[in-house]
Amino acid sequence: MSPKVDPFVQHFRASAPYIHAHRGRTFVIMFGGEAVASKDLRTLLYDVALLHSLGVRIVLVAGARPQIDEALARRGADLRFEGDLRVTDDVALQCVKEAVGATRVELEALLSMGLPNSPMAGARLRVATGNFVMAQPVGVVDGVDYQHTGKPRRVDAEAIRQRLDDGAIVVLTPIGYSATGEAFNISSHDVAAATATALGADKLIGLLEGEGVLDAEGLPPSQLTPDEAEQILRSDRDLGHHVERHLAAAIQACRGGVPRAHLVARQSDGSLLRELFTRDGVGTMVTSETFEGVRAAAPSDIGGILALIEPLEEQGILVRRSQEMLENDFDRFTVIERDGMVVACAALYAYPDDSIAELACLVVHPDYRTSGRGDQLLHYLERQCDAQGLRRLFVLTTQTSHWFRERGFENCEPNELPESRRSAYDHGRRSKILLKPLG
Ligand SMILES: CC(C)(COP(=O)(O)OP(=O)(O)OC[C@H]1O[C@@H](n2cnc3c(N)ncnc32)[C@H](O)[C@@H]1OP(=O)(O)O)[C@@H](O)C(=O)NCCC(=O)NCCS
Repeated sequence: MSPKVDPFVQHFRASAPYIHAHRGRTFVIMFGGEAVASKDLRTLLYDVALLHSLGVRIVLVAGARPQIDEALARRGADLRFEGDLRVTDDVALQCVKEAVGATRVELEALLSMGLPNSPMAGARLRVATGNFVMAQPVGVVDGVDYQHTGKPRRVDAEAIRQRLDDGAIVVLTPIGYSATGEAFNISSHDVAAATATALGADKLIGLLEGEGVLDAEGLPPSQLTPDEAEQILRSDRDLGHHVERHLAAAIQACRGGVPRAHLVARQSDGSLLRELFTRDGVGTMVTSETFEGVRAAAPSDIGGILALIEPLEEQGILVRRSQEMLENDFDRFTVIERDGMVVACAALYAYPDDSIAELACLVVHPDYRTSGRGDQLLHYLERQCDAQGLRRLFVLTTQTSHWFRERGFENCEPNELPESRRSAYDHGRRSKILLKPLG
């Protein structure tokens, strides 16, 4: 039996591939003014500081909607929205400047903290803010004059990059400036999407208020393509304004070339770290990339295949295969790769003279079983047999015969195997032989 590993050590080791993968990457992290007002802001910024210390280049985009609403209420001024968009008159612009200014100061103050007994001890973070976002007025739409409400016109990506190169965390707020010297109130989601796109960021991360996008079972779908996300946005489902804006920004950024956008519930402690440092994350990822797929194995998969099959060899479920055997046979393997990890594999050995093939080494990683991956691999290999004109498929198994019988395999005798395989049959192992006619 292998010695017991301390869960802390295990988790820390498991996060190592992500630490390597994230170093030097650029993440744009957007959150609402609710996060700034919350008592959890410190914890969130500790996690941001941690990411920064691991070499992640970070741009924070902070919203200020509740703070602006409060400032307006204090002045007894109207909160005026047309659809999703605030109409920013002179009084509202004043409130925006106040609220955004206060938000920025709050963030800068907390990011400057370095108390010895806090996780920020010794962090000495630099914060950079500035006129990075150029804006233009929304103008008059359907007869409504949006006045000082604007939209991003251009993001000075070069200037932001320079600050990131200097090791600073860049903080952006929902204000942009025009060539005429005016300030405009812009949506923080638009700022985040435009900035992530202009920077060619590796990720846009949205920290959601509430639970976010939930599927029929009440869980966040772990992955959506931009098209699927758009269908959700267009459906009748009421996601709430905040989630809808985050989802729209994620779609916009993905279509603008950002490889992955993540939506994570802010209020769940450590969700940002769990999303970034565990394989399956905790939120929803919007991406056009193939996160999981079936494909032919490559030599670089040999380590992953060995890691998958070794525990089963130790239990006697699979026949032992050396690394050398795998190096010779890797091209017979098909794998399912999930975010860079081999989570399932199977090998196909064809006997064309007898129009038959052996399915061997079918393994799904224990964490990913009972989700149809075994079936998926079997169907994939059956189609390959079909393409190669192989009419029957057999498998030798000691403990999994029922799984195969439920999928159309039937017991058969060694004499039904091709001659060369029959002579190599290990009678001591007493494997059951199961055969399935194809087509
Ligand atoms: C057999 C195996 C590949 C199935 O993978 P999977 O991705 O879980 O398969 P699927 O999701 O398509 O099917 C899951 C179903 O198979 C059942 N199943 C799993 N192992 C089984 C076994 N040994 N006997 C009978 N049924 C089994 C599960 O209970 C589940 O049934 P349910 O849908 O009624 O709940 C996987 O369990 C595995 O890797 N086992 C160890 C290796 C092995 O025995 N390989 C075969 C020898 S070559």
